[in-house]
Amino acid sequence: MPVEFCGIELEHPIVNASGTYDALAARRVFGDAFERNFPFSAYVSKTITLDPRAGNPPPRLWELGQGMINSIGLPNKGLVRFVEEDLSEYATLPAPLIVSVMGFSVDELIAILEALDGRDEIAALELNFSCPNVKTGNIVGSDPVECEAMMTQLRAHSDKPMIAKLAPSTSRPDLVAMAAESAGADAVSLINTLPGMAFAPGTSRPWLGAGSGGISGPAVRAVALGQVVRVSTSVRIPVIGMGGVENSRDAQQLLDAGARLVAVGTENFRDPAAGNRISAGLAQPAESAANPD
Ligand SMILES: Cc1cc2nc3c(=O)[nH]c(=O)nc-3n(C[C@H](O)[C@H](O)[C@H](O)COP(=O)(O)O)c2cc1C
Repeated sequence: MPVEFCGIELEHPIVNASGTYDALAARRVFGDAFERNFPFSAYVSKTITLDPRAGNPPPRLWELGQGMINSIGLPNKGLVRFVEEDLSEYATLPAPLIVSVMGFSVDELIAILEALDGRDEIAALELNFSCPNVKTGNIVGSDPVECEAMMTQLRAHSDKPMIAKLAPSTSRPDLVAMAAESAGADAVSLINTLPGMAFAPGTSRPWLGAGSGGISGPAVRAVALGQVVRVSTSVRIPVIGMGGVENSRDAQQLLDAGARLVAVGTENFRDPAAGNRISAGLAQPAESAANPD
C-alpha cells in the first residue's frame, strides 16, 4: 500500500506517534530482526527542544483501563546533542526520518529550524504545537490566530516539509488546521493527548508528579476519529491521524476519515511490533476487518 506524503514515497501508511517508540533503543534490543522488519514506513522522533530538558517529576504514568495518562514533559538532550549524537544514527534507520520539534518561543523554534534545515538526514519536520505537559504547550495548536501567526513566521526558516501537530483541546480543530494550511504548513497531524488527571489510590491528591498529564490510547479514539473527519474535510494538505489505534480496523477508520497516514502511539508500549501487525492487516481483504489482526 505505497503512499505519497509531502513528496516522500512511503511503503505503507503506518508511522509511529512521536514519543511512543524509541527506535534507537529498539535496535539495540531487537538487532538485525529490527532492521529487516521495521514497523513503520517513516520514523517520527521524540520531540526535541532547543535546550536539554529533564522532563517532569515522577511518577509520570498512570494506567487507565483504556489507555494511559502521561506527564513525561519532553525530556530530551537538546538540539546540539541531538544533532551531534543521534542524527547520524537515526539516518541509518530503514525509513525516512521526521523530526519532531517544540519551542517555548518563536525564536527558539526558528533556531531549531535553521539548525536542521540543511540536514539531508531529515525528510520532514513535525512542529509539536500541542504538548499538554509543558506550560504554554497547547496554545498554538488550539488557537487559529496563534497558529497562523506562528506558522507564518516559521515558514520562512525551513525548506523542509512542515507538519503542524494540533491540539485536541479545541472544539474547532478544523479552523486551526485551516490556519496552519493558509500559513504554509505542508500537512497537519492530530490528535495529541487530551489533558487529564488521576488521584493517587485512596487519596484526593494527584498521582502524577506534575499534577496532570495527557490521556492517550483507546480512551481517545472516538475524539480522534471525530477530529480527523472534521479536519480532513476542511483542508487540502495531507492529514496524519492518530489516537487510540490498536489494530488495522482502527487504522482503516482513520484512513476512511480522510487521513493520508496513521500514527500508532500507546499501542507500541503493549506490542512493539504493532506497526507491522497493523500495516499487514490493512493489506488484507476487507472481510478480515471484522476480525482485525
Ligand atoms: C508516553 C507518551 C509520550 C509522548 N510524547 C510525545 C512527544 O514527545 N511529542 C508529541 O508530539 N507527542 C507525544 N505524545 C503524543 C503521541 O504522539 C500521540 O499524539 C498521542 O499519544 C495519541 O496517540 P495514541 O492514542 O495512539 O497514543 C506522547 C504520548 C505518550 C503516550
